[in-house]
Amino acid sequence: MNPNSEKTPVTVTLPAGTHWLCTCGQSKNYPHCDGAHTGSTFTPKKVDLDAPQTIELTR
Ligand code: FES
Repeated sequence: MNPNSEKTPVTVTLPAGTHWLCTCGQSKNYPHCDGAHTGSTFTPKKVDLDAPQTIELTR
């Protein structure tokens, strides 16, 4: 069970730049990866933005 499932879908505004988004649901800084996936089969999703963007994340 995903402990952060109650947090999705989530809408976030990210600044321009590179972001690593959590796919495992274990991050205490969700939706950003904080390394809590270490030891699991999950890896963060890299998102490169040229400009600030509001996105909705769902799993
Ligand atoms: S903490 Fe979830 S993918 Fe890194």
